[in-house]
Parts: sequence; structure tokens; C-alpha cells
Amino acid sequence: MRLCVIGTGYVGLVTGTCFAATGQRVICVDKDASKVDRLQRYEIPIYESGLGELVEENAQAGRLTFSTDLVSAVRDVDLAFIAVGTPPKTDGEADLSAVFGVAQELVKHANHDLVIVLKSTVPVGTNAQVQRLVADAKHDVQVVSNPEFLKEGGAINDFMYPDRIIVGVRSGHERARRLINRVYHPLNLSSTKIVWMNPESAELTKYAANTMLAMRISFMNELAVLCEEVGADVQSIRHGVGSDPRIGPQFLHAGPGYGGSCFPKDVKALVATARRHGIELELADATNRVNVRHRSFVVRKLKRRFENNLAGKRIAIWGLAFKPGTDDIRESPSITTIEFLLDEGCEVVAHDPEAIENIRETFGDKIDLVDDAYEALKGADALVLLTEWREYQYPEFDRIKELMRTPVILDGRNIWVTYRLTEQGFEYEGVGVQVAAS
Ligand SMILES: NC(=O)c1ccc[n+]([C@@H]2O[C@H](COP(=O)([O-])OP(=O)(O)OC[C@H]3O[C@@H](n4cnc5c(N)ncnc54)[C@H](O)[C@@H]3O)[C@@H](O)[C@H]2O)c1
Repeated sequence: MRLCVIGTGYVGLVTGTCFAATGQRVICVDKDASKVDRLQRYEIPIYESGLGELVEENAQAGRLTFSTDLVSAVRDVDLAFIAVGTPPKTDGEADLSAVFGVAQELVKHANHDLVIVLKSTVPVGTNAQVQRLVADAKHDVQVVSNPEFLKEGGAINDFMYPDRIIVGVRSGHERARRLINRVYHPLNLSSTKIVWMNPESAELTKYAANTMLAMRISFMNELAVLCEEVGADVQSIRHGVGSDPRIGPQFLHAGPGYGGSCFPKDVKALVATARRHGIELELADATNRVNVRHRSFVVRKLKRRFENNLAGKRIAIWGLAFKPGTDDIRESPSITTIEFLLDEGCEVVAHDPEAIENIRETFGDKIDLVDDAYEALKGADALVLLTEWREYQYPEFDRIKELMRTPVILDGRNIWVTYRLTEQGFEYEGVGVQVAAS
């Protein structure tokens, strides 16, 4: 089949490349010429494990090409996937200007019947709006909703081996149904993966999934605060409740608050959409409020340790990406933490295996960024761990202690909680955990 994928970000590039890997001919289009230029040289603008090799392999095989020219790309394609960004507006609603803009261009330049697939995360009702937008097209244009569930850091695996493929299609759009079945066939050999529904349900399914996951995290973060107050241990509680198969263990880790390009924006967008319909989604709204409040926990803990005076303190941060396995810092807890620390007059020195360049764009020379994790610790008054990269799991604690001015560790992901660091002379705190007395 011939496909075009518009938007070559985390979702579009993975989608296009993986479809090419299943034998389809794919043109990936982006309006960012420098991105396209780099991709044409097999340079990957984002960090996603395994993606570089897959892009190169499929591009060299002639199945995957990159272009800025949407007009030529849409010619003769069976399906056009829209995977552009839908960032939040100030009122929390998703900004759909790129989605609508691309849909209009597609219809204007398609020289044949077309199926448009909405892969971007878009609020309920968007499919209907796009379908209305294309009503005057010269050809038959059917609009399908197919929200994406891949996770950065494991995106290729998620795409190639999906838990489910959500497809919202209108009744009567049989061509769309047939083409979706065909394009996903290699990922759906068992024929059990596609969950068909109407477009409104598909759109809401994506927001419901992200909000539910975010809700679990916010709940555990709130519980962690109570745990610290009453001497309970949030990790034990996680095991205790997570072993109930009705609950399951995932997304129950207390930490520095959820971040990334999806959870924060999608929770807010769901609340905003419901409000537009006169409905108050109180649980979703509280999920967001708890997360925002929780973001200051690092600073609160450090202030308590340093008697409310953080001015001049040198704070080392390990981990800037919103999670391991990606260079994505959008809405990362590291950003608000650094802002709070700078407001308190701290000196911040930070390390991350992949996200240094992105964070440099945000903070410029307001913070020190180092390529070696241990370099960050020289003369530090505290070490704050914010992203649980594998390379931070088993550090040389003797070396850490030698380098730091005061051996204070704030472990925002509870990865070192069992290491008996107090016995090694550290002042150790996690999130909602009880540290065994030495
Ligand atoms: N990142 C994720 O993990 C993830 C997971 C599931 C769903 N989503 C959703 O997928 C969508 C895309 O997310 P992303 O993280 O890939 O975004 P991104 O910002 O990484 O990529 C978007 C790309 O679209 C391009 N673009 C914007 N307007 C364009 C236009 N008019 N024509 C051509 N290209 C255009 C941008 O230049 C950019 O390269 C969003 O709606 C997001 O919510 C993201």
C-alpha cells in the first residue's frame, strides 16, 4: 500500500517507519525543513532506541522517504495519517490548528478517493469536524480515528506489538474499514487486536486511558505524603494493592509527578472538553491539581533539610527527561524543579544521558550541564534523582560521598531505597518510603 504520514515527531516518525518495515511504501512529511533534511541523511532528530537503524534500513530499501511537500506526497496514497502535534492552549483545550490545516491541504490536493486517519490525540468531536471540513471534496474522503498508544522509550515495540489498535470508523465507511484492516494486518495476525468503535468513542478512549493512568500516579503521590506523616511505606502499599489482579502493579509508583507531552496535556484537555459540554470531570481535574502541587515536593524537602535557606546551595540533578529512554523534556518534573530551585537562589548542575541539549534550550546558561554524572556532584550540597535511567541504578556511592560537600540524597524515584545508604553515611530521603534504621 502507499501511505503518507504527516508530522515526523515521536509518533509520526515511528508510525511511518514501522509501517515501512511491514512492507508498505511510506512518505513522511513535515513542515520543518531542517528535520526532513536530517532524516534524509538518516539522522534521527529524537532519541528513541532502535529507530535510527530501522529508518536507515527502510529508507535504503526504498520503502521510506521524507519530504516537506505535502501536495506531491498525497498523490496516489491510499491512506494519509495525520500525526502532527496538538499542544495545549492556555485554557487547557488542545490546539487543533495543525490538524485542521493538514486535513484541508490533503483534501485540496488529493487526486483520488482518500482515507484520512487521525493519529494525533484529538478531543471528542474532532473527527466529525474534519469530516465536515472535507465534505466539499471532489473525491470521497473518509475520516478514521486511530489514536496512538505507543510509549516513548519503547515506541517501536509498542507499535509493532500493540495491546490493541483502537479504530473509530463511521458506519457506511466500508472503504476506510477495509484499508485499515489491510494496513494493520501484519500487526494483527491474530485478528484480535483491532477494537472497532465509532469515532467519538475512539477519541475518548485515548483520553480515558491517559487520564486513568495519570490518576493512579497522582493518587499514589498524594498517598506518599500521608505515608511520610504516619510512618507507612508507599512501596509496600504499592505491592499490597498492586498484587490484587483487579488493580495490577503498573503506574502506581510515587515519584516527582507525571510529565511528558501526553499525560499533563491530555488530562487538562479532557477536563476542558467536558466543561465545554457543561460537565465537570472532578476526578480528572483533581488528578491535574494534585500533580501540579506535587511538583514542589523536592524544594519543600530540601528547604526543610537546609532550614529554609537554599540560597547559594549547589544542587546536583540526575535525570532531566520526563522518563528514561527518551530525550523528551516536555512538561518534565525536572523543569519545574529547576525553576523552583533557581527561585530559591540555588546553583543547579545537572546531568542526563540524552536530554542535555533539550534542557539547554530551556535554561541556557542559568544552570550548569555536564556530560559526566559524577562531575555534577563536585561540591554539591544535595543530589536529587529525578529520572530512573539505568545508568543511575548502581552508582559508586563511595565516589558520590567523596565528591559531595554534604552527602544529602533526595531520591525522587525510590530507586535506592533498599541500599541502606544511611549506613554508608548519607542522609537519604525518598518519596513516601520508610528507610530502614541502621
Ligand atoms: N509522544 C508520544 O509519546 C505520544 C503518544 C501517543 C500520542 N501522541 C500524540 O500524537 C501527536 C503527535 O505527538 P508527537 O509527540 O509526535 O509530537 P511532536 O511535536 O514530536 O511532532 C509533531 C510534528 O508535526 C510537525 N508538524 C506540525 N504541524 C505540521 C504541519 N502543518 N505539516 C507538517 N508537519 C507538521 C512538527 O514539525 C513535528 O515534527 C500529539 O497529538 C500527541 O498527543 C503522542
